[in-house]
Amino acid sequence: MPEQRVRYAPLREKITTPAEAARHIAHGCNLFISGFTAGYPKLIPAELVKRAEAGEKFKINLFAGASTGDAVDGVLARAGLVNWRRPYMSDRSMREAINRGEILFKDDHLSGLSAAVRAGEWGPVHMAVVEAAAVTEEGHLIPTLSVGNTPSYLAKAEKMILEICDADPPELEGIHDIYMPEDPPFRMPIPIYRAGDRIGKPYIALDPDKVVAVVYSQQADTCAFFSEPEEVALLIAEQLLDFVRHEVRRGRLPKGLPWQSGVGDVANAVLAGFMDDGFFSELSIYSEVLQDTVLDLIDLGKVRAASGAALTLSERARDRFFRELNRYKEKIVLRPVEISNAPEVIARLGVLAVNTALEVDIYGQVNSTHVMGSQMMNGIGGSGDFERNGALSFMVTPSVAKGGAISSIVPMVSHVDHSEHSVDVIITEQGLVDTRPLTPRQVAEAMINNCAHPDYREMLLDYYQRARREAGGHEPHLLGEALSFHQRYLATGDMRPGRGRAQA
Ligand code: COA
Repeated sequence: MPEQRVRYAPLREKITTPAEAARHIAHGCNLFISGFTAGYPKLIPAELVKRAEAGEKFKINLFAGASTGDAVDGVLARAGLVNWRRPYMSDRSMREAINRGEILFKDDHLSGLSAAVRAGEWGPVHMAVVEAAAVTEEGHLIPTLSVGNTPSYLAKAEKMILEICDADPPELEGIHDIYMPEDPPFRMPIPIYRAGDRIGKPYIALDPDKVVAVVYSQQADTCAFFSEPEEVALLIAEQLLDFVRHEVRRGRLPKGLPWQSGVGDVANAVLAGFMDDGFFSELSIYSEVLQDTVLDLIDLGKVRAASGAALTLSERARDRFFRELNRYKEKIVLRPVEISNAPEVIARLGVLAVNTALEVDIYGQVNSTHVMGSQMMNGIGGSGDFERNGALSFMVTPSVAKGGAISSIVPMVSHVDHSEHSVDVIITEQGLVDTRPLTPRQVAEAMINNCAHPDYREMLLDYYQRARREAGGHEPHLLGEALSFHQRYLATGDMRPGRGRAQA
């Protein structure tokens, strides 16, 4: 019903067909869209593809909050319509085109991105296409299941198209907390002192005169797929929780610090580990993407507050969430990503950060993004925001990849996302290393003994001992040899990343 969803009457006059709306997007358009794993527009991308299929030659520069679904990244990449894509993505077609060099891609820390767009660093915001659950009587926008960068994209947009999505109930109103900080030199502290604090408004303000079209959509987001955590993930999660329990009991870590959990099986297994664990009872979550497990924990009465930039749910969890929206709204806050990932707030709250690596080297440098140093997987997402600023930063990874053909513990990472100075504790299913009190040489020995898979320990130890003898120094490396460790994998088969289930 247009009246219920678009309560600001002047905007109802702009309701049109997706084909008409999409005509506002031309070759060279900087297209800024909502969407942060969830909440992305679906109809306008489909119309752009139809135009390409009809023979029109054009390309757009596509800027989202983070990853979207096949309905955006997949279809636009396959249609050859994307010139630039920023930031994080996790779609297979998009990734392949980026790695072929056909789509320009730049990976960014998500926390700083909204301010960069406001400063004009990303160029003019020609058009913002945004999914909404409703427009209020005053013409303000109620987002759907993500906030991401949408407030800043709308603030800078020259023109806007709104996709009002019927699949998301208007009762989402009230779950969002929209706060946009002033930009330097006028920025004040972001006044969040507890994970659940609300500091903004429940809507995104926009200038209705800039709206050129409103379209109606019935299309829900493609639901996330969540599998039960596998044994390796559970083993890692168990060690992580044991470690935190131990630190709390020793008085080295206060109880009750909020948790961030990144993307991937292990990060999910950590949250799942809270379910039947009496030690962790009154949980606060200050994270980026909230997933099914958060609803499970709320149902168990274990969550004090859960804050994120998006809510990505499986189909089953989404039905449950919509059925009992008012109950979940009491615990969940959805914020702009510049607030969910704000270094200042993460540091102030003392967040315990848990993120996944592709590979870690014996001195603790981490590669989260580039398979074999060259092939982009997804992007850094918010992992850097949390790892660098958390009270305690965990990096987790299975000790081997590709069925054991690759060691995830290597002499030197083939690409650096997080340096040894940002990461505190590294955990594989084999064991963990708390790097905080250790010298680089001690870290290397502990990494080989505790974290590497037994099949690779001898090889790593041989490298490390020769590096000590032949190169010496504070962090001994045989530069010529360090990276050739990866070369032999390339001979064993195609190591390009494939499915990439991860979302952020
Ligand atoms: N060398 C080569 N390939 C490797 C590898 C390694 N050391 N480690 C993993 N891979 C491959 C896997 O085999 C898999 O390939 P496939 O898709 O062809 O099967 C792919 O990389 C992904 O690995 P998988 O174990 O399925 O990933 P995941 O779901 O656990 O996610 C990351 C791991 C690192 C990709 C994911 O966590 C990520 O994108 N992180 C960066 C962003 C982030 O941390 N965001 C959180 C912020 S809040």
